[in-house]
Amino acid sequence: MRKPLISGNWKMNHNHFEAIQTVQKLAYLVGKHELEATDVSIHPPFTDIRSVQTVIDSDKLGYALGAQHCHWDEKGAFTGEVSPVFLQKLGVQYVIAGHSERREIFGETDEMVNKKVASIQGHGMTPILCCGETLEEREAGATESKVLGQITAGLAGRTSQQIGALVIAYEPIWAIGTGRSATSDDAQQVCAAIRVCVAEIAGAEAAANVRIQYGGSVKGSNIAELIAMPDIDGALVGGASLDADEFARICKLGR
Ligand code: 13P
Repeated sequence: MRKPLISGNWKMNHNHFEAIQTVQKLAYLVGKHELEATDVSIHPPFTDIRSVQTVIDSDKLGYALGAQHCHWDEKGAFTGEVSPVFLQKLGVQYVIAGHSERREIFGETDEMVNKKVASIQGHGMTPILCCGETLEEREAGATESKVLGQITAGLAGRTSQQIGALVIAYEPIWAIGTGRSATSDDAQQVCAAIRVCVAEIAGAEAAANVRIQYGGSVKGSNIAELIAMPDIDGALVGGASLDADEFARICKLGR
């Protein structure tokens, strides 16, 4: 049985004071009981991670610490980058790899994403491998070829066991930050195609185990419908995760 994973990707929002406040407020709203049914990860900006880790550890909160990005090498002359070793040392459990904003704004290629996925797993953390099509690609009927191409490239070289242990996030680019979510049927259709693709690459067991999130304008008002779909195992939430009340609603309904 795949336990749902609800992930809050804060992107470049909340300084470390705001981060502490948000997590403390969330802790009042989403407690141990809810976390038995649903895993919740929080992905703050790098400058907040240590602060959020301290709150999670000292208050023994059941949230998983996440990061939004990392480099694949352990150290070196990579100005501005962050090592997977540093994240591991901070207790980070999930790292987003290949978010469309990193691909489109910062030029991350499938090859770079593939190296990151390998490095994240190599350092004992779980990648959340992102994929998704633009509106033009969707309208041209190219959704599956784009998404499955990104997944195939991102997973290259991974063993079946490693693939079964990771998380894939389907995030149609046209639905991110637009308030326009994919319908649950459309999201299900793509997530089912991703699972078939994983079965072809890594076998039935990996496909049965891999968790597939939907992301793109997820809110308290649409999470229940999305999570009810057979191939949607959670959500990668942007804007709505910044507000503790709204994110708490999503976490409680996301099971
Ligand atoms: P929104 O939930 O703001 O649409 O963002 C989705 C996203 O990109 C999460 O990674």
